Amino acid sequence: MFGQSRLSLLFASIGVLLVPFASGLGSSCPSASTVGLAAPDDPYWMQTIKHQGTSAFNPEASYQVFRNVKDFGAKGDGVTDDTDAINAAMSEGDRCGQGCESSTLTPAIVYFPPGKYVVSSAINTYYYTQMIGDAKRPPTLLASPDFSGLAVIDADPYIPGGAGAQWFINQDNFYRSVRNIIIDLRQMPVTAPAIGLHWQVSQSTSLMNVIVEMSQENGTQHQGLFMENGSGGFMGDITFNGGKTGISVGNQQFTVRNLTVNNAVVAVAAAWSWGWTYQGVSINNCQVGFSLTTGGTTSATQSVGSEAIIDATVMNTGVFISTSKPSNGTLAGSLVLNNIMLHNVPVAVGVQAGEVVLHGSKDSTWIDSWGQGNVYVGTSGQPQFTQGPITPPQKPWNVIDSTGKIFGKSHPQYADYALEQIVSVKSHGAVGDGVTDDTEALQKIFDQYAGCKLIFFDAGTYYITDTLVIPAGSQVAGEAWSVILGGGPKFQDEANPRVMVRAGERYSTGILEINDIIFSTVGPAPGAIIIEWNVHEPWDVQGGAGMWDSYIRLGGAAGTNLQISQCPAGTLSSECKAAFMGMHLTSGSSAYLEGTWIWTADHDLDTPESDQISIFTGRGILSESLGPVWMIGTAEHAALYQYNLHNAQNHWIGFAQTETPYYQPVPGAPAPYSIDKAYFDPEFDSSNAMAWALYVQTSWDITLFGAGFYSFFQNYTQDCLATFSCQSQILNIDKDSTIQVYSLSTVGTTYQLSLSHNGIIDESNNRDGFQETLTSWTRW
Ligand SMILES: *[C@@H]1O[C@H](CO)[C@@H](O)[C@H](O)[C@H]1NC(C)=O
Ligand SMILES: *[C@@H]1O[C@H](CO)[C@@H](O)[C@H](O)[C@H]1NC(C)=O
Ligand SMILES: *[C@@H]1O[C@H](CO)[C@@H](O)[C@H](O)[C@H]1NC(C)=O
Ligand SMILES: *[C@@H]1O[C@H](CO)[C@@H](O)[C@H](O)[C@H]1NC(C)=O
Ligand SMILES: *[C@@H]1O[C@H](CO)[C@@H](O)[C@H](O)[C@H]1NC(C)=O
Repeated sequence: MFGQSRLSLLFASIGVLLVPFASGLGSSCPSASTVGLAAPDDPYWMQTIKHQGTSAFNPEASYQVFRNVKDFGAKGDGVTDDTDAINAAMSEGDRCGQGCESSTLTPAIVYFPPGKYVVSSAINTYYYTQMIGDAKRPPTLLASPDFSGLAVIDADPYIPGGAGAQWFINQDNFYRSVRNIIIDLRQMPVTAPAIGLHWQVSQSTSLMNVIVEMSQENGTQHQGLFMENGSGGFMGDITFNGGKTGISVGNQQFTVRNLTVNNAVVAVAAAWSWGWTYQGVSINNCQVGFSLTTGGTTSATQSVGSEAIIDATVMNTGVFISTSKPSNGTLAGSLVLNNIMLHNVPVAVGVQAGEVVLHGSKDSTWIDSWGQGNVYVGTSGQPQFTQGPITPPQKPWNVIDSTGKIFGKSHPQYADYALEQIVSVKSHGAVGDGVTDDTEALQKIFDQYAGCKLIFFDAGTYYITDTLVIPAGSQVAGEAWSVILGGGPKFQDEANPRVMVRAGERYSTGILEINDIIFSTVGPAPGAIIIEWNVHEPWDVQGGAGMWDSYIRLGGAAGTNLQISQCPAGTLSSECKAAFMGMHLTSGSSAYLEGTWIWTADHDLDTPESDQISIFTGRGILSESLGPVWMIGTAEHAALYQYNLHNAQNHWIGFAQTETPYYQPVPGAPAPYSIDKAYFDPEFDSSNAMAWALYVQTSWDITLFGAGFYSFFQNYTQDCLATFSCQSQILNIDKDSTIQVYSLSTVGTTYQLSLSHNGIIDESNNRDGFQETLTSWTRW
């Protein structure tokens, strides 16, 4: 073992190019794939690659996943009204729209070549859709002067005359992405209440490289993005120019990374939230940066619960943050600000028509670390209401970039790759029909092409019956979330769990990028560790090993054998065990996880009524990584814990959202699994036989910057919510760990934070709406 790891480290220091040689097939790999070879005028490869994606469990074999809007008659000439053509591309194939709450059978990419597409009414997006523009020359959706409809892109349309009824359930509006698209509202009248995106969505959704252009005239009513509720979510690399508001948002929780708003009246207007994290914000020439509705401390008066903002630059803007009500400990509204640079911003934090809480200046002002709300230190359960400096987070050198900001890396799109740099798995022997065993075919492709080509998983479901190794050096892209589905006898032994997908061999180093893939199992699979993540980024490529918009989904979908007919809510059957563990970050690994949702299904996505089901996963994410690790994702519904950090180090965890399984405590954790000390399982006692959201053991330099740890049920009933007693403890930190907690919201939990299983922070001091929020906890 020791010798092997030394050898891999040696390869690592020489670089990615050696990986193919390591598998003995160097000759097929002429150059490192990280150099794009496309000619400047070549279309984005996604347009020209052979389209052979399928939906494995859709009874219609000819169902088409990839749709180029031009094939449906769109012109993109800036003149022709392309609305009907685009909507035809969206809807063809009996897809899941109005009257269908959810379905995994009709995934689609609606693709836009470069051009200007005039639209006169909303593009209603169907469930499980990626709208993708040419990554090199993003297309424009140009709203016509007489545009009518709520928004140019509408992710959850209201039904006309439906008294508020909508196509989808806002908290279950999963599997959406919009990428490389410019929306232009400037032809519309300045007074029209035009909206770029109605983005009322939930988990497993993303916006990426989206720009909305709006009128900058006095009196503009345009809005970039409008979201009234939902349960998100992630968005990044988004820019809004002009308008009354850049984004106008209300949602339980969200992570926003790399947001720019220029020349708007208000950059961000927030009506309500439990918790949001903003990472990397640029606001220029606005009247107000963040306009927050605050003051509600009960569910009936829910307003903005908490906002945590890190790495913002704000210029020529009157007020950075404006709250509608003062916060004085009674009227809550938690704020955490870190590394905020203001230039000509007279007021940093102020109450609308009220006092200035934190002054800015006409010159430059730097806010290192500032909080508003209840601050806790050490073992004291006594809140200290604070409006002032708070202990800043530790930022290990390897989680920040050269400018001192938290490092961020956008979802790779390989925009400059030529067709010959891409290898399709279906063209190389994999079948992807959900039934054929593709283990060997896929392994062969990885062994041959890792480190030299982008490995493209054409849409489909790839059934594997043994461990698939994705070697260091691999770049992987799915199509509308291609599925890798593990099953069979090798994943049955809970006492000897087996890895389904191994990302890099132990102690390997190199680039490893996974995009748009779903990992799942055919049940039962009580012995499956879905992903073992071993690879470490190269020393000179920060964020070189990671996953973007890739999810672990356990049960609740066609092909899993873990649906309503097998596992209706309330059944306690070992046949309904979906996995041993979601993801294991081993000690030699580093990981950049953005938009990674690890979901054990609580309802069936493929039944008309979204019926509740009882599916069991032992564990969420176990991290033993020494870092760097960036986690901007969520883990939900596993039986023992959602996050378990053991001997972990140098982790940046952005908004982390978890839910305790709805069936607990019937049975109570760890049942139906048992404690496995080889995997550093937490302890449980009968007074708290509920899953831990986060369990921290001998771990250092961990920053939790925004979290929502929710416990909504006991045995599927919600009476416990009123008494904040669905579970007693939810976050445990042992005596040896250094972790700093900011902007933590909990629901239904008596103690928000425990030290060595002693409840320390009682929720009763932190009621802030439906959720309870503490602004920060640090050990010292
Ligand atoms: C915008 O319009 C209002 C109302 O007509 C007016 O008072 C204000 O001066 C105008 N501002 C600019 C910058 O033109
Ligand atoms: C979502 O927002 C709409 C508009 O404000 C409201 O009518 C609806 O009740 C909300 N739904 C939930 C579940 O909060
Ligand atoms: C932020 O977004 C812009 C525009 O999409 C992009 O050019 C830039 O690289 C992004 N920065 C980071 C740190 O992701
Ligand atoms: C906070 O403000 C509200 C409304 O002004 C007031 O009723 C309450 O007493 C204040 N609480 C404290 C602790 O000052
Ligand atoms: C759990 O709920 C089920 C269905 O309502 C009920 O029959 C059962 O008695 C409950 N179990 C416990 C221990 O409360």
